[in-house]
Amino acid sequence: MVSAILAKPAPGEHVLVAGGAGYVGSHVAWLLCRLGFRVTVLDDLSTGHRDAVPDHASFIPCDLRDQEQVSGIFMETKPSAVMNFAARSLVGDSYRDPMGYIRHNLMIMTNLAQAAAANGVSSFLLSSTAAIFGTDGTGKISEAWPIHPNNPYGESKVMCEGVLRWLEEACGVHTAALRYFNASGALFCADLGEAHDPETHLIPIVIQAALGRRDHVDMFGADHPTPDGTCIRDYVHVLDLADAHVRALLALRKVGGLRYNVGSGTGYSVKDIIQATEEITGRRIATIVRPRRAGDPATLVACSDRIGRDLGWRPVNSALPTIIRSAWAWHAKHPDGFTGASPLPRPAMMALHA
Ligand SMILES: NC(=O)c1ccc[n+]([C@@H]2O[C@H](COP(=O)([O-])OP(=O)(O)OC[C@H]3O[C@@H](n4cnc5c(N)ncnc54)[C@H](O)[C@@H]3O)[C@@H](O)[C@H]2O)c1
Repeated sequence: MVSAILAKPAPGEHVLVAGGAGYVGSHVAWLLCRLGFRVTVLDDLSTGHRDAVPDHASFIPCDLRDQEQVSGIFMETKPSAVMNFAARSLVGDSYRDPMGYIRHNLMIMTNLAQAAAANGVSSFLLSSTAAIFGTDGTGKISEAWPIHPNNPYGESKVMCEGVLRWLEEACGVHTAALRYFNASGALFCADLGEAHDPETHLIPIVIQAALGRRDHVDMFGADHPTPDGTCIRDYVHVLDLADAHVRALLALRKVGGLRYNVGSGTGYSVKDIIQATEEITGRRIATIVRPRRAGDPATLVACSDRIGRDLGWRPVNSALPTIIRSAWAWHAKHPDGFTGASPLPRPAMMALHA
């Protein structure tokens, strides 16, 4: 179910979706097309897939670090709003190449912001992350938590939020940053879902094990201060994230400075995910306990009260069985991801939910 279905695009409303061939961006692009927005996806397909871009969207291959190319595309396509999903976003990888991560993510952000300011864009949304917050506190993570990233990836997003602030204050563009927790799940018709290589996210890894495409699942630490000793995370369905983007986009017509944490508000441990997947798929999943990973907090759960209060957003698709069923259906139908997949059906023909 997607409640932002009530959204009506203003005539000629054109959203430029940077990184819209990736996991979250392609689901948001799909929803925007379905709601009647004009959508242009810019992507270099470094981690995204051409077949993930909806038929109704225009696609322009582009390395967003190339300022000249980005600026030319804005002058030609004249978007009214921009959503930036494009980034390198692997936490572990960002320790190995911290400056490369910061440089990459900041180049994309400054190029898009500069082109937006120069071409009369009125709204700009950034994919931010829970990784911008420090993890020393207790309880659910609200927007009031200290901004104190524990890794270079999170730091790069703090910097991108800094660019967003000045895009608003100095250039007059209305801005929103949505700090997601763990995006998960897939379209309920199973024609669009998550396909990363290498895969680092827990739910697709567990499902790959259930499909027999990996021997086991590594559990990093079974001695965390949690009820079953494994890490607890907040999983939010990718369609709920798409809904949050549309709601924020509509709100930006009137106000700016929106900063929201977007999660389900419920935490599940690694063992919970494995058990739920075993129950849903009827397959046994082998696990191996590994040492804890440096900097891996025991528990990360969102407080999303602010976006609920301001925009009426609710995580209606984020119950764990709904997430796992939709992800299972996608991976079972497309075990090789988008490789060899038939093109995505036109949005009007696709069911929003089973
Ligand atoms: N997936 C999550 O759980 C999660 C959680 C929090 C925040 N985020 C943020 O959401 C955004 C999307 O995440 P995702 O999981 O969909 O990632 P993804 O890797 O699937 O998508 C990123 C897209 O950006 C494109 N891209 C990267 N560098 C580019 C460049 N230089 N030029 C053009 N295109 C480029 C990639 O090809 C890809 O299609 C990221 O910014 C990420 O930091 C994701």
